[in-house]
Amino acid sequence: MPQIQTHHPLTQLNTFGLQAHAEHFVAITTIDQLQACIADAQLRALPWYILGGGSNLVLPELVHGLVLKMDLRGKTLQAEDDAAWYVAAQAGENWHEFVQWTLAQGWGGLENLSLIPGTVGASPVQNIGAYGVEIKDYFHQLTAIHLHSGEIRQFDHADCHFAYRDSIFKQAGGKDWCILEVAFRLPKAHQTKTSYGDIENELATLGLAATLQNVAQAVINVRQRKLPDPAQIGNAGSYFKNPIITLEQAQALKVQYPDLVMYTIDAQRSKLAAGWLIEQAGWKGRQLGPVGMFFKQALVMVNHGGARQRDVKLLEQKVQQAVLEQFGVAIESEPIYWN
Ligand code: EPU
Repeated sequence: MPQIQTHHPLTQLNTFGLQAHAEHFVAITTIDQLQACIADAQLRALPWYILGGGSNLVLPELVHGLVLKMDLRGKTLQAEDDAAWYVAAQAGENWHEFVQWTLAQGWGGLENLSLIPGTVGASPVQNIGAYGVEIKDYFHQLTAIHLHSGEIRQFDHADCHFAYRDSIFKQAGGKDWCILEVAFRLPKAHQTKTSYGDIENELATLGLAATLQNVAQAVINVRQRKLPDPAQIGNAGSYFKNPIITLEQAQALKVQYPDLVMYTIDAQRSKLAAGWLIEQAGWKGRQLGPVGMFFKQALVMVNHGGARQRDVKLLEQKVQQAVLEQFGVAIESEPIYWN
């Protein structure tokens, strides 16, 4: 049985830097340790929370229950056929390091997802995405363990119910599964995807061809320029999701606001840039107590120091209200709240 800590500090383990403790805490480095915890009736009586890189969380000051920090490590080429490489990594691997490792082998696909904070095990939960790519585009399968029964099973692509910043692992039944390992299918005929304006412009400015390494570098440069580094200023990435509304409503708004940033999804639906809405509503770079909306990217909430969950919630509500009043559009928060 791994060692269980009590009143363990979590402030360094969440990129938002919220002040938080876990009532009980355990670091998991082997599947056997996790199975030992599942078999322990006293531990099982507590509410459980799985912690990866802590980059998409809004923690309360005290997490009542057991926090399990997933530290399983290892990455490997599982298989190869004429069309693709199949690579897998354990849940506790750092996402960015894993991506750079695949690129160093010459296996393309994940380069646009460089520098996303967090772990491999957390990547399917919200189907992480950036610059026109989501992990669902390269996902092969994953292995997960059921936190009540200890059953271990595979989830293939269809089982995961991937959608924009969503999967089965955010839904009621899916939350009982803990991801152990994720495998990706990286096609040999891969073409880099540089159609996203920021990436295209960065490559053009640097005079670089769209090789795997160069695209990764362009993504890293753009992210470093626009997004706050959690090591310097606490944040959980985009705080709101880009809202999906009817094409009809989007077109009506576009008449009123010709600069509105919208992307057509299909014949019925459009996605709006929430960062643009928040900026227009006057919240870009504005602070409320110890938190604020980042001055270079209004979609990202930042912790100016000492923030707690209630400060985050208060600003969330203010921003939602301002956007709703001005545009009639509801925006939803994106990170996961514990308790
Ligand atoms: N915009 C503004 N003002 C702002 C921010 C954005 O006008 O303050 C406008 C930009 O000018 C641009 C548009 O909104 O025309 C889109 O902005 P950006 O390219 O920065 O992307 P985003 O839609 O704000 C999404 C993801 C990011 C991801 C980028 C790049 C979500 C919730 N966020 O942001 O993901 O890096 O696209 O693909 O979908 C994250 O999820 O944590 C995250 C950082």
